[in-house]
Amino acid sequence: MQNEKPQDVIRVNDLSFTYGNEMVLDDLTLTVNKGETLVILGGSGAGKSTLLRLIIALIRPTRGSISVFNKDIAMLSERQLRPLRGRMGFVFQGGALFDSLSVAENVGYALRIANPKISTTEFRKKVEETLDYVEMRDFYSVFPADLSGGQRKRIAIARATITRPEIILYDEPTSGLDPIVSKRINHLINRLRIELKITSMVVTHILQDAFEVATRMVMLKDGRMVFEGQSDDLLLSRDPYIQQFVR
Ligand SMILES: Nc1ncnc2c1ncn2[C@@H]1O[C@H](COP(=O)(O)OP(=O)(O)OP(=O)(O)O)[C@@H](O)[C@H]1O
Ligand SMILES: [Mg+2]
Repeated sequence: MQNEKPQDVIRVNDLSFTYGNEMVLDDLTLTVNKGETLVILGGSGAGKSTLLRLIIALIRPTRGSISVFNKDIAMLSERQLRPLRGRMGFVFQGGALFDSLSVAENVGYALRIANPKISTTEFRKKVEETLDYVEMRDFYSVFPADLSGGQRKRIAIARATITRPEIILYDEPTSGLDPIVSKRINHLINRLRIELKITSMVVTHILQDAFEVATRMVMLKDGRMVFEGQSDDLLLSRDPYIQQFVR
């Protein structure tokens, strides 16, 4: 691990992943640098969610390696992964809130896991602070069923940020939202980078949203990287697939 620079928070090396005979990710190499928002852009089935699942070690690479905070995650047991995962937040595709729990219990879930004896006052204070940050303070006692799509996403982001992670991985944070609500979510993702210095990976297939949050972009097609660089350079690409995607 000598060649890893301290500013790399995630490093993916020659990564391949297959489901049965299907090559879902094919020889992918990329890094996520401290403080950036790296957007992973690609169409449906490109392998974007699979990449995130590999980074949090829900599944293991077929070939290649992934290091997070300079630790090769393939070498770690579930128990050793726990402190690493504690430094990361996840916003899953679809939001994935617990419908039987109130907004407060959803947002504060990780607090109770970390400290089952947390006092009511402490819990309430932290949850309210976090809800404030996503402009959802009035929703403390509401249940997920009564939230709009955009509100659910903001609660999912609040839940991911309450432990003050250094990295947040977002899987399609704006899918199913209208453009105005999407803008609000993108604004929140940008605030987390600028104000809280959180490093992010954002997976999306929506070009507009990619441009609103990316400090750098990677584009995947059928599990292969077809572009890596600044957003503006994507528009200049002569690759026929990319040209088709951006139009
Ligand atoms: N559990 C699974 N078993 C078998 N194949 C899977 C499984 N999960 C995903 N795949 C396949 O892997 C490929 C990549 O899926 P993935 O979910 O990573 O794509 P994606 O880029 O996130 O797509 P989307 O934009 O639709 O969310 C797809 O062809 C999919 O059918
Ligand atoms: Mg996906």
